[in-house]
Amino acid sequence: MTLATSQDFGGDAEAVVDVDIDADFARSVIAGLSVPQKQLEPKWLYDALGAKLFEAICEVDTYYPTRMEMQVLANRADEIAASLGDNLILVEPGSGEGVKVRLLLDALGERVAVYVPVDIAADQLIFLGQTISAAYPEILVAPVVADFTGAFTMPSDLPDGPRVLFFPGSTVGNFDPQTAQELLARLRVESRAEALLIGVDSCKDANRLVAAYDDPVGVTAAFDKNILNRINRELGGTFDLSAFHHEARVVPEKSRVEMHLVSDREQTVEVAGVPFAFAKGETIHTESSHKYAPEEFRALAAGAGWRGEAVWSDTDGLFSLHLLRAD
Ligand code: AVI
Repeated sequence: MTLATSQDFGGDAEAVVDVDIDADFARSVIAGLSVPQKQLEPKWLYDALGAKLFEAICEVDTYYPTRMEMQVLANRADEIAASLGDNLILVEPGSGEGVKVRLLLDALGERVAVYVPVDIAADQLIFLGQTISAAYPEILVAPVVADFTGAFTMPSDLPDGPRVLFFPGSTVGNFDPQTAQELLARLRVESRAEALLIGVDSCKDANRLVAAYDDPVGVTAAFDKNILNRINRELGGTFDLSAFHHEARVVPEKSRVEMHLVSDREQTVEVAGVPFAFAKGETIHTESSHKYAPEEFRALAAGAGWRGEAVWSDTDGLFSLHLLRAD
């Protein structure tokens, strides 16, 4: 189902709806469990509970990316604002709960005319639209319910003004480099943005990565296993959650950390009536999080038609925020 409703840029804007989650989810899960290295697309981690668990991860001491990015945004807010101009149309793919955009909106003040959050989680998106409208009444909010990893429709009647893509959180790291480059190229074309402000996690030692992606509190494990819960609930799955455990694997040659769900025994699980056999120790790869040195990321972005203009990092160089311009 693809359905576009009208938009009203008043305080409680209607959303553009451009997604059919149920059919896509079933297709994607069955395809992912049918290949030799079983895998699930990480976007399915974010149902309502998954989104809450991700928020909780961002509060965990050992998960550094959120804190570092907030630090950079807060410290460099004026510089960033001066680089972006006025009458801005700010487009945020994967807006989530919108914590970071508030820092940016605070810094940009009256420079922002329209905010276009794009997210697959409809309820969270509508709530975000309402809270942003309430907190920044001068900004028109035009939410788009869509999976930004595929083609999506921008609101049709946006006013004129420079469009800026805001893509924080190192979400770009959850795609393999080739797909990330294609995504950045497609987002440039679809949004018609002339600037991209994007958060990118830097390469770092394995111990720090394992502590971040297999945290001692167990929040990341709960976040990862929740995808099995979601399959059970939405696709008639028979996963026994107690028969899998979460593992974070650092893969230096790919400059990434992977999340896996490891089967603790030999077992067969059904999804939508289709059986999938697991050997003891076999894994489902649920997410990769790629890390880039700033110059590596600039090269990747250049291949997507984005020219590097500025890079800001935290004091320890753990995370960087890039400003790029469309060629
Ligand atoms: C959303 N994304 C950038 C997070 C990351 O760091 O790759 C998702 C996440 N997975 C486990 N912890 C956080």
